[in-house]
Amino acid sequence: MTDAGKAHMGILDELDALKAAALERIDSASDLGALNAVRVEVLGKKGTLTGVLRGLGSLPSEERPAAGKVSNEVRTAIEQALEARWSTLADAELAARVAAGAVDVTLPGRRRLPGRQHLISQIVDEVVDIFLGLGYQVAEGPEVELDYYNFTALNHPPTHPARSATDTFYVRDRSAAAAPGVEGAPSEALLRTHTSPMQIRVMEAQEPPVYVIVPGRVYRRDIADPSHLPQFHQVEGLVVDEGITFGDLKGTLDHVCKELFGHDRVTRFRPHFFPFTEPSAEVDVSCGICEGGGCRFCSYTGWQEILGCGMVDPNVFGYVGIDPERYTGFAFGMGVERIAALRHGVPDLRMLVEGDMRFLRQF
Ligand code: PHE
Repeated sequence: MTDAGKAHMGILDELDALKAAALERIDSASDLGALNAVRVEVLGKKGTLTGVLRGLGSLPSEERPAAGKVSNEVRTAIEQALEARWSTLADAELAARVAAGAVDVTLPGRRRLPGRQHLISQIVDEVVDIFLGLGYQVAEGPEVELDYYNFTALNHPPTHPARSATDTFYVRDRSAAAAPGVEGAPSEALLRTHTSPMQIRVMEAQEPPVYVIVPGRVYRRDIADPSHLPQFHQVEGLVVDEGITFGDLKGTLDHVCKELFGHDRVTRFRPHFFPFTEPSAEVDVSCGICEGGGCRFCSYTGWQEILGCGMVDPNVFGYVGIDPERYTGFAFGMGVERIAALRHGVPDLRMLVEGDMRFLRQF
């Protein structure tokens, strides 16, 4: 027999002996602690089996596969024996403790509360999925935004009421505060009041064709009431391409409303004004809480406004250097909380942020 052959035999014999010894010790381990000690001694980092496996590397390569196969079999046999002995010993220990009165097996188990997505995140995902199905891309942008993107480039005149400090949260420059208690100088930064500033950022970054949606949080200086929150979510949409018409806008939004609310729900387009779209419209869905009869949630109109939309104003194209003779586009922004409320008959938007599990668990 060659030397290599001897070495081969050696390792197989060694494995055999190791397996026999391990199984014997597993069988005679009398408690879980002793069994765990055997596990560590054999399978642990410095364990005996681990040591033999390391030796495999020095075998001639033609002998390694056979030796590898045997050592895997040995490992599996040991693991199975450990597992079987573990469950026998664990059952016996539990039975002994129950007999001694140390464990009350009639106690109810501890209830686990699995986490889940908040209703608002579920709806954002759903809206995003609908648009992904239409071939749109998803973009996200900053919640602390510059005045330029939130207002100026969206064609808001300097005196527009939305710019007032009673409607918008402005970030103040504390380093410029003259004295303690003084608010600090107004700055160019604010909490975005809508997701529309991303229209500008997207068009600055990308040439048409643009088909994009932007989910995100927005902030307004409103007092919370059944239909308003100072912080809420919108999904913005922007399309810029050759030959885009108001008909494309209506067709797209009609499809989306039907997907979201069901094909029996009614929508209506009302003429409206936004500085950055012309013409503009608001879209209402029939109120699902009173089914059109009128209630506190819909201010007794039977309709709930869920989105604003319109054709991109050529002035806006001017800010981002897109040729309005070649391209047209549409944009929309929908309120996610309102969609949630309408879909599920939530009579007060504040319930969405109170964190009451009895409410949230329903979704
Ligand atoms: N940004 C508008 C709002 O928050 C909605 C809107 C978006 C309107 C896009 C037109 C186009 O009310």
